[in-house]
Amino acid sequence: MIAAARGDVHVSITGLGAYAPERVVANDELARMVDTSDEWIVERTGIRERRIAAEDQALSDLALPAAEQALEQAGLAGKDVDLLIVATVTPDMLFPSTSALLADRLGAADAAAYDLSAGCTGFMYAIVQAYGMLAGGLARRALVVGGDVLSRILDWSDRSTVVLFGDGAGAVVLEPSEDAGFLGFELGADGAGGDSLWLPGSGSRLFETPDRFVKMNGREVFKFATRVLVDSAQAVLERCGTSIDEVDVYVPHQANVRIIDHATKKLGIPSDRVVVNVDRYGNTSSGSIPLALRDAEAEGRLRPGKLVLMTGMGAGLTWGSALMRWTKESG
Ligand code: ACO
Repeated sequence: MIAAARGDVHVSITGLGAYAPERVVANDELARMVDTSDEWIVERTGIRERRIAAEDQALSDLALPAAEQALEQAGLAGKDVDLLIVATVTPDMLFPSTSALLADRLGAADAAAYDLSAGCTGFMYAIVQAYGMLAGGLARRALVVGGDVLSRILDWSDRSTVVLFGDGAGAVVLEPSEDAGFLGFELGADGAGGDSLWLPGSGSRLFETPDRFVKMNGREVFKFATRVLVDSAQAVLERCGTSIDEVDVYVPHQANVRIIDHATKKLGIPSDRVVVNVDRYGNTSSGSIPLALRDAEAEGRLRPGKLVLMTGMGAGLTWGSALMRWTKESG
């Protein structure tokens, strides 16, 4: 799917928040659990540490502070929200949805609330859905949360996956705006590559050896990621009639510094316009892009008028980009 935003209705981000658990797990701590080293992890991924949820923290506990911060920035209360989407592959439980639980905790009694599953690209898919509901007049104020507690579905004896991931959540409020806001989107999915990154024993399909841990073919995902980050970004830029030279802030999915560096070079964007925080959080799946947006804002890089390009990718296999003209003052 590729689309330019409507010209007659504008939708933008009016609030932004993020939360990562307090517990910091550095590479050296992982090296005491599995056969790996700080040197290997930094060289192959750029990751130095990640945050891991406490035993009593489920996704909604991470999502709540992120959502509260986003609402506060937007000057809204929970009751003002009429659409709440939580993008995740690690909901508190399959049902009730984490979004329904979160709506209750926020007092968003009038909100349509549902979870969305599109792997690590979930946040981008949810943004596009919220945009469509607002631009179509079906909702007025949307809260979009992206977050995951991947530590719960990792095999902590598998060195090929535990070094990559972390826990975290981010949230944005979307509202109709006077100015441009979102300009265009591109989303895609390729189920043929689904078994490159999957959680086999997690649904109604029965497997001979039920397995509740993430399985990944790292090299395949690497090839896929380097391709789609570039193709998706170029597609949305072309659809919007603009070029990478115009982009002020590029926010790629935070999976691996090597993947980000590859996309940066191929796209031809100067590295000082790229947001990178994977070194501190690892890959937080649906939390990745909103956490990166929050850090970019904290560094003063997101100011009204800036052209912002975001691209996510992940399990599915899925990918998605959004281009927007930032309108929000710093929170
Ligand atoms: N520590 C030490 N050695 C390791 C580790 C580890 N944690 N993991 C693998 N190795 C070893 C391998 O066994 C292999 O050894 P061998 O040469 O003796 O066979 C060697 O290191 C090289 O392994 P490769 O898999 O070739 O290493 P590569 O350079 O491809 O890096 C990595 C592996 C980091 C997983 C890379 O392929 C990658 O980043 N892939 C993408 C992963 C990803 O982004 N997944 C999620 C994306 S979607 C989402 O966000 C959910």
